[in-house]
Amino acid sequence: MSKFVIIGRKKLFGEVAIGGSKNAVLPILAATVLINGKSTIHNCPNISDTHTSIEILRHLGCKVLYDGYTAIVDATNIDKTSLPTSHVQKMRSSIIFAGALLSRFGEFSSTTPGGCRLGERPIDMHINAFSALGATFDQNPDIIAAKADKLIGNTMCLSTPSVGATQNAMLAAVYAKGETTITNAAKEPEVVDLQNFLNKAGANINGAGTETIAINGVTKLHSAEYSIMPDRIVAGTYLVAGAISRGNITLKNVNYKDVSPVAFALAQTGAKIVCHGNEINLTMKHRPIALPSPLTTAPHPGFPTDMQPQFTALLATAHGTSTINEKLFEARDAHIAELSKMGAKITNTDNRRFLIEGVAALRGRVTYAKDLRGGAALILAGLASHGITVVENAHYIQRGYEDIAGDLKQLGAAISFLK
Ligand code: EPZ
Repeated sequence: MSKFVIIGRKKLFGEVAIGGSKNAVLPILAATVLINGKSTIHNCPNISDTHTSIEILRHLGCKVLYDGYTAIVDATNIDKTSLPTSHVQKMRSSIIFAGALLSRFGEFSSTTPGGCRLGERPIDMHINAFSALGATFDQNPDIIAAKADKLIGNTMCLSTPSVGATQNAMLAAVYAKGETTITNAAKEPEVVDLQNFLNKAGANINGAGTETIAINGVTKLHSAEYSIMPDRIVAGTYLVAGAISRGNITLKNVNYKDVSPVAFALAQTGAKIVCHGNEINLTMKHRPIALPSPLTTAPHPGFPTDMQPQFTALLATAHGTSTINEKLFEARDAHIAELSKMGAKITNTDNRRFLIEGVAALRGRVTYAKDLRGGAALILAGLASHGITVVENAHYIQRGYEDIAGDLKQLGAAISFLK
């Protein structure tokens, strides 16, 4: 199994550029299904989730050229509306293809995407959104099969601001007759990126980034060229790398606004952060300071759940005791046991409340990534540990980071990726 090997206690210095966002490229590649023509998408991160999405597009009948940065998708000859089971099981967010298929072809089918280590991760809000537009579903517990002769615009209110459900509802409403209004919508930057791509292709959507999104149905979209936004979670992860190693790093090609919730939390631990245009510099001259009050994950613009494991690793080395409340997922705690093997003192209450008593230094150990962001957290902990840290199951981390070893090495880390 592939792994990362880190020799700890090296301060990071220098600069690194941030690539395209995983959580923006997935819905935008799904959105190319709506277009009876070609879409050219630049700054597609070269990660396994992008590869999986491209395989799904090809399974549906699209022609896709991808050079590791730009994907050219020709969706003229789509001849399937069922998602490949193996891909749905590998990548739950494959369900994001449903809205676009339903919108253009009036049907889609998929096996139910399983839960994952973060929790059950149901898709009831996605189903409710499609039903609100007039879709009907077969009653088979293992298969989701939807049909809609004609989708009709409607008003829908999400019970929680789900990112995926917001995006799927937008995709399904693009060709629906009349206006659709989504209230209590997710406000994440990746939702705004999807709106920007769709409008560039001729859709008529307003309000993304706020809690109310209005989609005026159109009859067709045209070919479009678009560049994916920078990945704010990769940027946040690297800022924590700079902080946990007490270094001085600069990230290039970052939208500061997207990273500001993480930057604010980092400043509370004593990091000095300066933003110049699309560059962010972080300097940490001393051991991090424990947070003055509990950090609670929340939908954007709150502190992102996708940064909770990485921040837990940072606070594990802080001076003092901090509390993190994980509110989005019922089981985003697989990294806690692995960090504890490295000497972290973390009390895990009901898998969602972590009391983190900082220690002066962690110890390198053989650890196991159990999910994408938890795995990244173990690499960060390795940067601050005495001795050598091994992070097994590197494939989890490769789902969301193009070349975390190469990037951190560029900043001076002693890290290798072993196949
Ligand atoms: C997106 O997942 C991201 N993935 C996740 O990033 C991220 O953690 C999450 O949003 C929250 O920000 C992609 O964009 C591909 P949700 P998504 O629907 O859309 C519950 C990463 O590490 N829920 O906002 O699946 C759900 O169980 C990944 O990059 C329902 O109950 O997240 C969860 O508790 C991990 N019913 C909460 O909402 C539904 O129909 C938030 O989920 C849908 C969701």
